[in-house]
Amino acid sequence: MRKIQVITLFPEMFDGVLNSSMMWKAQQQEAIEFKMVNLRDYGLGQRQRVDDTPYGGGDGMLLMAEPLFAAVESAREYDRNAKVVIMTPRGQRWKQAIAQDWADSGDGYIFICGRYEGYDERILTLVDEEVSVGDYVLTGGELPAMTIIDSIVRLIPGVLGGEDSAAIESFSDGETLEFPQYTRPEDFRGMKVPDVLLSGNHAAIAKWRADNSVKAD
Ligand code: ADE
Repeated sequence: MRKIQVITLFPEMFDGVLNSSMMWKAQQQEAIEFKMVNLRDYGLGQRQRVDDTPYGGGDGMLLMAEPLFAAVESAREYDRNAKVVIMTPRGQRWKQAIAQDWADSGDGYIFICGRYEGYDERILTLVDEEVSVGDYVLTGGELPAMTIIDSIVRLIPGVLGGEDSAAIESFSDGETLEFPQYTRPEDFRGMKVPDVLLSGNHAAIAKWRADNSVKAD
């Protein structure tokens, strides 16, 4: 079974997301196993300290190398060949094609969620990939990790309902956005479903959909 582990100070943030909808289903199907690793458990001393001030001065606190190393090493013991990924706005920008590659790879993953003002750079010696979800700064890596996990897990074969669902949707070919869709009723408050979609003419419908698919940048 594919293992996805997350190193975080806030494991409870993941409860709702990983235990609902598709992510829940993926676990029920035993396609995936999620394991939260609480960085606090690897904190130093009685107060289980995980952060300290930066050398050279400056505001804020950095996650220390020692607890991070211990947490990664423990996660690696559970899944020896897992890839280690750190969430950072400095990382490569996440996109659908990478989600597809990682879903296809069969690899397990260990996601490290940064917090506070950053982390001791030496953790990067254990990291295989640095990933960003966009050019903006979030409070921590938890939301990015959830986004990335969702985008990968739904592409693991058998997780989505219809086998074609992932293939026909937005971005699967790298650039096309999905076409507009409608369901009942045909007329909602005077807003009508385009006639061609009611025509039963499959060729015409396919053409309309292609014409109305928007190209992404
Ligand atoms: N941590 C904080 N901001 C982030 C971002 N944009 N992407 C990934 N990790 C982050």
